[in-house]
Amino acid sequence: MASRIPLLYSPKVLELFRNPKNQGRLEDANATALVGSLACGDMIAIYLKINEETQVIEKATFESYGCAANIAAASILTDMVKGKTLEEAWKIDWRIISDELGGLPAVKFHCGALAVGALRRAIRAFFSGKARPEWLPKELTFEEKQALEEEKLMEMLSKKIKAAEK
Ligand code: FES
Repeated sequence: MASRIPLLYSPKVLELFRNPKNQGRLEDANATALVGSLACGDMIAIYLKINEETQVIEKATFESYGCAANIAAASILTDMVKGKTLEEAWKIDWRIISDELGGLPAVKFHCGALAVGALRRAIRAFFSGKARPEWLPKELTFEEKQALEEEKLMEMLSKKIKAAEK
């Protein structure tokens, strides 16, 4: 008989999962991203209100259709980026988020990476049609690769399902 071993989440993850901050759609957002993880099929949306002149993030919210780790990661991430410039926010990687959460179980690393990937894709979306700043890499980062855009995620998942059915 298969047994399920409960995941050991830190107290911080459990606290933010039960009482997430910054949850919900941001009506006046000027940069958003809706992405999903190929590892689990879960999705997350990030909404940013960015000052066009200073490039400071004034507001940040999220909607997560993911697990406790993803909700906690998105909650702490959206709190951390408020008041930061886009360049400063870009530097937050999944390891920083994991540390801030008191550590994530290894099987949940991708959940933190998904939240960071969503933020980075929203930042890229802000620069779409604008000049790319020097600090913004041309190549997708690890976290962005973990966070596929909705259509790409659906396409990859349906390929996986078809392959499994053969
Ligand atoms: Fe999917 Fe955590 S298992 S985001």
